[in-house]
Amino acid sequence: MKSISVKTLLVFLAAALFVACLQAADDPRLEESRALVQSFGTTLQGELKKGLAEGGPVEAISVCKDKAPQIASELSRLSGAKVRRTSLRFRNPANAPEPWETSVLLEFEQQAIGAEAETPSEHFAEDADGTIRYMAVIKTGAVCLTCHGAPLSPELDAILDAGYPHDRARGYALGDVRGAFSVTWPASDDASSR
Ligand code: HEC
Repeated sequence: MKSISVKTLLVFLAAALFVACLQAADDPRLEESRALVQSFGTTLQGELKKGLAEGGPVEAISVCKDKAPQIASELSRLSGAKVRRTSLRFRNPANAPEPWETSVLLEFEQQAIGAEAETPSEHFAEDADGTIRYMAVIKTGAVCLTCHGAPLSPELDAILDAGYPHDRARGYALGDVRGAFSVTWPASDDASSR
């Protein structure tokens, strides 16, 4: 052991880390995560547009309140991954980020103000135990401002105050990082053979 220098050890560690990252990028769950998020986003947007067109913003609140968790749990059930939405400034405390999600959301915030602003942010990493974690940024679009911008209509303000007394999800501007989709694949026995 004495003959191995610190430098050799560092080079070895860097190489091992690099290989681990490559393996993560090769993992089929990257594409599966992207597909889940795509499906979540498209279904939700469709429901939201329908809700807004049919009943206006007040009616559409129930889409976000009831349909979003329903879609998330259906996708979770079908895939075996935990699929959810989260945000640093959440409306519903049930959507509060876990510590790992907070770090990724902070990275997304940084990327949004930096040179990478035009590239949609995503995160894909594998824990030492084989748990796979994926996140994709959600930016604030024009349609989102009705319920997440400022000022809101007095009617919406009142309804949101009643339903979400600790709402932190107002005052967003077009293009702001609104939050992220999050997908967690539990470690499985066959993870190493994937
Ligand atoms: C009709 C009002 C309405 C519109 C329009 C709307 N939202 Fe929301 N949004 C809500 C409500 C209500 C919640 C809380 C849902 C819950 O209880 O889980 C929410 C929650 C969220 C969350 C989960 C994190 C949190 O704050 O609790 C995200 C992310 C989000 N909205 C993004 C968007 C985006 C992006 C758009 C535009 C495409 C959008 N919303 C449009 C009402 C709306």
